[in-house]
Amino acid sequence: MGAKLIDGKAIAAEIRQALKVEIDQLRKQGIVPGLAVVLVGTDPASQTYVRSKQRACAEVGIRSEVKTLPPDVSQHDLVSLVDELNQDPQVHGILVQLPLPRHIDTDVIIRTIDPAKDVDGFHPINVGNLWAGSKEGFAPCTPAGIMELLRRTDIDPAGRNAVVIGRSNIVGKPMAALLLHKNATVTICHSHTRQLEEYCRQADILVVAIGRARFIKGEWIKPGATVIDVGMNRVDGVLCGDVDESARAVAGYITPVPGGVGPMTIAELLCNTVIAAKRIS
Ligand code: GUN
Repeated sequence: MGAKLIDGKAIAAEIRQALKVEIDQLRKQGIVPGLAVVLVGTDPASQTYVRSKQRACAEVGIRSEVKTLPPDVSQHDLVSLVDELNQDPQVHGILVQLPLPRHIDTDVIIRTIDPAKDVDGFHPINVGNLWAGSKEGFAPCTPAGIMELLRRTDIDPAGRNAVVIGRSNIVGKPMAALLLHKNATVTICHSHTRQLEEYCRQADILVVAIGRARFIKGEWIKPGATVIDVGMNRVDGVLCGDVDESARAVAGYITPVPGGVGPMTIAELLCNTVIAAKRIS
C-alpha cells in the first residue's frame, strides 16, 4: 500500500472559503484587509509567485496592490517605499518578495517593515515572538501552512521525531520552532550534516526544504512516516519536489508537488493579512 496524499490544494481551498466569509463580515464593519506586495526586478519565478498571491487576494476579497520596481532600484528608494507602506492605513500587510538583487541588503529591508504589518513573519521581532512561543506576532507562511496540513490530517507531532532538512529563515528554522512548540523532538539537518540518511530513517515527520530535485530517496524513509516536501524544482520543464517518487511506497502520508505545500503558503499569507487587518483596525 502506498502513502496517502495530503491534498494541500483542497485544504487551501477550504481555508480560502472560510476566509472569504470572515472578510465579508469585516467589510460590513468597514474593514477591508489590504496587502501590498513589493516586487523588485523581473525574475520570472518571483513574477509567477506574485501573480498567484494577487489572484488569491482577489478571490477572497483582500485588496492587493503590487509595487514593481526596476532591478537597479537603490536601497534608499526601496526603504522609502516600505516606509510609505508602513504609514498607509489601507495597507495591513506588506510582503517584499525575496530574493532581492545582490546590491540590496535584505536584512535592512526586512527590518524596515513595521512588525505589525510583516505578514511574512521575517522581521526579528516576529522571529523572536515565534521562538518565544508568543502568539502575538506572525509565523512565516510556509511552515504555518505545513502545521495546518498536519493538524487537518490529524497528525500530532507530540513525542514524535521531527526532522527538518534545510535551515533557511523562510522555512527550516521557523518550521523547527513550530514543531517544537507542538512537542516534537526536533532535529535540523543541513548541507554539513553527516549521515543525513540516518537522520531521515529516524523521522516520524520529515520536512524537506533544500531545493534539490528528488534528493531524498524512498530507502531513507521510515515506513509509515509523514513526509512534507517543500521543494519546487523545475527539471526539463516539469515541476518536482525535493523527495523522490520512491518515497511514496514507504511513507504513510506525503505531500505531492505541485498541490501540497505551495497552495498552503498562499492561504496562510491571506490568513496573516486578515489577522493584521483585525489587529490594526
Ligand atoms: N520567496 C520565496 N518564498 C517567499 C516567501 O514566503 N515570502 C517572500 N517574501 N519571498 C519568498
